[in-house]
Amino acid sequence: MLDSRKAPSVLRTRTCGELRQDDVDQNVTLCGWVDTYRDFGGLVFIDLRDRYGITQVVFRPSAGEELHSSARSLRNEDVIQVTGTVEMRDEKDINPERPTGEIDVRGEAMEILNRSKTPPFEPGAKELPNEELRLRYRYIDLRRTELQQAMILRHKLCKVTRDYFDENGFLEIETPILGKSTPEGARDYLVPSRVHESAFYALPQSPQIYKQLLMVAGYDRYFQIARCFRDEDLRADRQPEFTQIDVEMSFIERDDMLETIDGWVARVVKELREEEISLPLPRYSYHDVMERFGTDKPDLRFGMELQDVSEIAAACDFGVFSGTIENSGRVRGLNARGAAEKYSRKMIDELTAFVGEYGARGLAFFRIKEGSLDSPIAKFFSAEHQQAIINKFDAEDGDLLFFVADKESVTSAALAALRNRLGKELELYHSDDLNICWVIDFPLVTWNEDEQRWDAEHHPFCNLVKEDVPLLDSDPAKVRAQSYDLVCNGYEAASGSVRIHDNTVQQKVFDLMGMERDETERRFGFLLNALQYGAPPHGGVALGLDRWVMILAGDDNIRDVIAFPKTQRAADLMMGAPSEVDERQLNDLHIKLDRPGGR
Ligand code: AMO
Ligand code: AMP
Repeated sequence: MLDSRKAPSVLRTRTCGELRQDDVDQNVTLCGWVDTYRDFGGLVFIDLRDRYGITQVVFRPSAGEELHSSARSLRNEDVIQVTGTVEMRDEKDINPERPTGEIDVRGEAMEILNRSKTPPFEPGAKELPNEELRLRYRYIDLRRTELQQAMILRHKLCKVTRDYFDENGFLEIETPILGKSTPEGARDYLVPSRVHESAFYALPQSPQIYKQLLMVAGYDRYFQIARCFRDEDLRADRQPEFTQIDVEMSFIERDDMLETIDGWVARVVKELREEEISLPLPRYSYHDVMERFGTDKPDLRFGMELQDVSEIAAACDFGVFSGTIENSGRVRGLNARGAAEKYSRKMIDELTAFVGEYGARGLAFFRIKEGSLDSPIAKFFSAEHQQAIINKFDAEDGDLLFFVADKESVTSAALAALRNRLGKELELYHSDDLNICWVIDFPLVTWNEDEQRWDAEHHPFCNLVKEDVPLLDSDPAKVRAQSYDLVCNGYEAASGSVRIHDNTVQQKVFDLMGMERDETERRFGFLLNALQYGAPPHGGVALGLDRWVMILAGDDNIRDVIAFPKTQRAADLMMGAPSEVDERQLNDLHIKLDRPGGR
């Protein structure tokens, strides 16, 4: 697929990644960037780099005065063309670390195609400069091997994806970028219109509505490698502009969808990691993972499951615990096995501050020593309660237990974050491990305390689990949606659902969410309309392409797998976007800026 032998041109015969012992005595022409230069007065060594690799070129004084002094003038990142003969290196000079390490090219002619200014950093340097500088000079950053590898991986993932869906009868269909607000729930990026005064397009948060319309239109199996735009707070795994592998299928039930994506996962893992993965991927209910891990995207590369000790807490003499239970809260905890001596008091204080970011008002801990609990608060627990706690966690001497007492959502969020942190710090998994599972049976809606209304857990088009339909009126919190997330190493790597294709049910769901008829009409009228013209049962999913590349690359920064990413503040430092625009452009768009001294 990415054969370096396919790159000859008028300017070069070979690439910097391909020469081997078999090529000795061949005359070759290479082009590339000066990765490093070493000038020994006599011999000048140039490591020449292109996308395919690095080849060492040697210039000897015997090649002639002019060539030799020209070689001595080379500096990092100059672009050159070199012609010479491939030579075997002496045994002692062979570099087994490098694919081209057996040979050198003896420089016989060279043309400097372009000189580089002194670069702000060297792509080959061991120490990375700060990310801001790298983003400002992204075209230099992109010369780094790690980023090139990430781009190659990304390309391969797209190719495998296109092959897989094509082989399974899917059509790739593009949907508009200039459209109307979609239901994913982030803020929209709006685009003003010159032609339509005071009206705006919205950039798609996803192709959600279009793909459902394609099902109504009979396209049956659709996919698209689709760009999405969301104006939301950014994190290490979020970009304002990102890519989904967007999929929708007609005449299916949930399991058809899950099996289709299982097949994609197996294919990707086989082709990109040369590993077999056993199918079907495990499926866990939302309720189950929330109970065991406190999050709907658990990292299952390690155990350390949460346990509920509310019963013991209610009966103990520690006021924080018993009081929490009296107030309908919960006390839950986890066991960091063998970690008692690894965490000092000071480190536990740090962990306490850390869980505080998730709302926890404290972090109780016990070291297990000689079969009982050791902690400033152990005195509040009778021998019997101590033993009950030890049994609950199957704890042994040297273990370290942590507890959070609070309302359920805080215990979940705080302990889930703590579990992830401890898993990493205690090295409970290998960075190469891959663990992928489905989380299913999400609640249809969650209660929005601030707005005093039900919100869609995913989006308002998710169908209900059939037997839960009667609960829609009596107990909406218990209604499960036919939705599913694919979770990989603790990341939400895909999300989707079987859709509502019946207009009455759809209207009922909107009503439950307190969406006024004119609002639903205004926002989604065209979809509601379409559902009345022969909509087939359908469902779909969207895989986060950037996240998949990040996970497969073993990285934890999404910016490392996007050629030109935005910063945490959604800026492009290299282009300087967003930027101010001309007065004339604003006038064309009928826009007046509201700012001090504004135009
Ligand atoms: P959702 O909003 O869950 O679903 O998005 C699907 C997947 O896209 C990825 N993702 C992101 N990746 C990077 N940066 C972001 N800001 C970002 N936001 C989301 C995640 C996520 O699981 N239309 C529905 C899908 C459907 O129902 O078919 C949707 O967009 O990996
Ligand atoms: P205090 O009595 O507030 O000094 O707390 C004693 C211990 O209990 C400390 O280790 C606190 O971190 C812990 N603690 C306090 N509140 C909570 C809570 N809500 N959940 C878990 N531990 C707590």
